[in-house]
Amino acid sequence: MTEGGEQGASGPSSSDGLMEKVVNLCKRRGFIFPSAEIYGGFRSTYDYGPLGVNMLRNVKDAWWRSMVRLRDDVVGLDAAILSPAAIWAASGHLENFTDPLVDCRQCHERWRADKIEGVCPNCGSTDFTEPRSFNLMFKTHAGPVEDEGTVAYLRPETAQGMFTNFANVLVTSRKRPPFGIAQIGKSFRNEITPQNFVFRTREFEQMEMEYFVPPAEAPAWFDYWLAERHRWYLDLGIPEDQIRIRHHERDELSHYSSQTADIEFLFPWGWDELEGVANRGDFDLQAHILGSGERLEYFDQASGERYVPYVIEPAAGATRAMMAFLLSSYAEDEVAGESRTVLHLDWRLAPTQVAVLPLSRKEELEGISRRVLAMLQPLYLCDYDTTQSIGRRYRRQDEVGTPWCVTIDFGSLEDGAVTVRDRDTTEQVRCPIDGLAAELSSRTASS
Ligand code: GAP
Repeated sequence: MTEGGEQGASGPSSSDGLMEKVVNLCKRRGFIFPSAEIYGGFRSTYDYGPLGVNMLRNVKDAWWRSMVRLRDDVVGLDAAILSPAAIWAASGHLENFTDPLVDCRQCHERWRADKIEGVCPNCGSTDFTEPRSFNLMFKTHAGPVEDEGTVAYLRPETAQGMFTNFANVLVTSRKRPPFGIAQIGKSFRNEITPQNFVFRTREFEQMEMEYFVPPAEAPAWFDYWLAERHRWYLDLGIPEDQIRIRHHERDELSHYSSQTADIEFLFPWGWDELEGVANRGDFDLQAHILGSGERLEYFDQASGERYVPYVIEPAAGATRAMMAFLLSSYAEDEVAGESRTVLHLDWRLAPTQVAVLPLSRKEELEGISRRVLAMLQPLYLCDYDTTQSIGRRYRRQDEVGTPWCVTIDFGSLEDGAVTVRDRDTTEQVRCPIDGLAAELSSRTASS
């Protein structure tokens, strides 16, 4: 079975070259590698390299900071990935988490019927088998016996762990609605056509929050979270004209949702989903009440009121968001007559935030340079690079989005000062080593 874009860019995205450039940069500079490459790759799975792992962690940290750490109404959770069939029977995923699968009768490729507009992307044929429902969950067995009783699933979303732990979290955290449970972690979907680099893969990371509210307050909280999540992307540098909100039509809604809006990004192939914000009503808690027989409700001692909260869910993809940040920050420009590639990443997302660059490899500079590095490492993600000319090192740092380079030269031995270079303006200023932490901190505050 061939799947579009398994090894990289595909479709209309290829036309302006941005996708290929970013995919190449990711491979060349150690952001993202095709998985199991030495064995010929493995079906649309990817490994995050030294820079990619930093950047992906930064994306997740920025989300956690805004959704959990800076709030007193949201708490965190890290639930298991392996889960019993009972959860997915109750949630409706066993029955409903399907895509329509068709086979092309001419070339025998398999496709998601709703994505190909009746024409086989491989051979152009319009002769297909009848669509049949294909469940996207990865099924396995827990333990050495493979029978119906040991069937387990890799979670296709992090959300259910937050519903099944609702009562545990309510009791232990002493929160009351409105309050949220947030989780970041891997999810797995046996996508029929994984596509467009890390946009749609079978293994990916989600950042989801379930916000439990009194039912009457659900519409207002939906509006609040939609605006809040839109603002998060803008704050981290996605330009306003590359992001939009699209409300779902009634016939588009998932089986659990009464209201959904997507936050969409202008990907090279057009507008596509970055994050969904849904009003899930009490669908999930009621489903698990029915499935488990447990009481998943809130009892307000003051008013004597007992109710099953409604849920507003902002559901984002960490890997998909990272891709959007890479695409929107990529630029090619000219500096002093020389062309360069640059990622204009917000400093909070940059995989290296400060590069410490001794002008020469000579021993005299090593001690002072390493002292500067040791001073900055607890504060920022740092790189230490002594190879090649300083100009080439600046270009290498620009290409991976490093906002600031700190250069130590022979003058530094005399005056105890270093040069700080800004990625975007390429402006260089001299700064005493004693004042370096304050200088960088003032730049992070103003950027
Ligand atoms: N709990 C609701 C839920 O999972 P979803 O719209 O299916 O909703 C939420 O997924 C987000 O997860 C998406 O907006 C997307 O960013 C990310 N996502 C979903 N499927 C993905 C895949 N196959 N590859 C990468 N990211 C994916």
